[in-house]
Amino acid sequence: MSFFASRISRIKPSPTIAIAAKARELKASGRDVIALSTGEPDFETPVHIRDAAKAAMDRGETKYTAVSGTLELREAISRAFKRNNGLAYLPDQISVGCGGKQTIFNALISTVGPGDEVIIPAPYWVSYPDMVLLCEGMPVPVDCPQDTGFKLTPNALDAAITPRTKWLILNSPSNPAGAGYTAGELKALGEVLLAHPHVWVMTDDMYEHLVYGGFEFATMAQVVPSLYERTLTLNGVSKAYCMTGWRVGWAAGPRELIKVMNDVQSQSTTHTSSVSQAAAVAALDGPRDFIAKHNAVFKERRDLVVRMLNDAPGISCPTPEGAFYVYPSCAGCIGKVTPGGRTIETDEDFAIHLLESEGVAVVHGAAFGLSPHFRISYATSTDLLKEACIRVRRACEQLR
Ligand SMILES: Cc1ncc(COP(=O)(O)O)c(C=O)c1O
Repeated sequence: MSFFASRISRIKPSPTIAIAAKARELKASGRDVIALSTGEPDFETPVHIRDAAKAAMDRGETKYTAVSGTLELREAISRAFKRNNGLAYLPDQISVGCGGKQTIFNALISTVGPGDEVIIPAPYWVSYPDMVLLCEGMPVPVDCPQDTGFKLTPNALDAAITPRTKWLILNSPSNPAGAGYTAGELKALGEVLLAHPHVWVMTDDMYEHLVYGGFEFATMAQVVPSLYERTLTLNGVSKAYCMTGWRVGWAAGPRELIKVMNDVQSQSTTHTSSVSQAAAVAALDGPRDFIAKHNAVFKERRDLVVRMLNDAPGISCPTPEGAFYVYPSCAGCIGKVTPGGRTIETDEDFAIHLLESEGVAVVHGAAFGLSPHFRISYATSTDLLKEACIRVRRACEQLR
């Protein structure tokens, strides 16, 4: 009998972290590697946020806080929900965790058990299915191919719902495809959910502020107020505020659920760092003009990457609405042969070919549940992106 719990055999380590590790290894051995595999902005945390953290330390805010987060932070989050989404969430409806990741985990462990199903549109963020598996539930991936803009349709949602469905997880703009749902598209999905009162919806709005070209962000509880009582709205400072390492994310929803999530957290991490919480208050309440500046850079990079990738033979890359990822198809490269005589049979073979032949690290689509694709994160310098796209094109041109 194994020493490890049976639930552990159901999960795998995050493939995005694994690829980044492999790229680092190659780099350490002297190879010239461009890693386009990480999911974090290349910009520093703004100075006023760092200063707020230092000031908090100097004021002695270095002790335990409330499990759900400091009242100051939950009030700042409450104001942000009102300002950004027109949503009324009071501080006792908000639970702050160690990044968005922990709040999602808290929500799932609080509600999902053996046999419970969670609908996850694919391509999906790699952690959703594995978290559901850790909770001994059943992830139900639903294919959302390129021709639907990588978005769930009302018909596909309706077909996936069973009496065992607990949650639908919606992520907009999405990781890995950058797909953003319009208010109209959310409304149409909301209509389906209204017909199934046992299904709750978890909206992961982590990339809310990273939208380009006039795309207007919307979230379910705002667009379909009658779903408010069974919606958990998730957000955080990691991406738009360039604070991935500070580990602050939150969930807002019905009090009863938030209370249970806090109880769970009280038996694991207790809360995220007091200093990080003070920094997050400064992020939410302070000047936010840097976000528009970053977005102008991200949009330029997105357009550059889309244009250059579409010049590579065998690649087709649509233009996403937001986040900092593109999710091109490599269908045109499948079945071709590398100069070394290896046939590209899967998107993982294609990603390995990119890494080995040209030193470009991307994440293969199978990791996100929809093939044959690969994810490029354009949260890296424009010069490096240009060089990487030239290399991707060269790697595609080598295939016969
Ligand atoms: C879709 C999505 N949700 C949640 C997270 C987790 O964010 P955090 O770093 O705040 O835990 C990420 C991070 O990559 C993400 O891409």
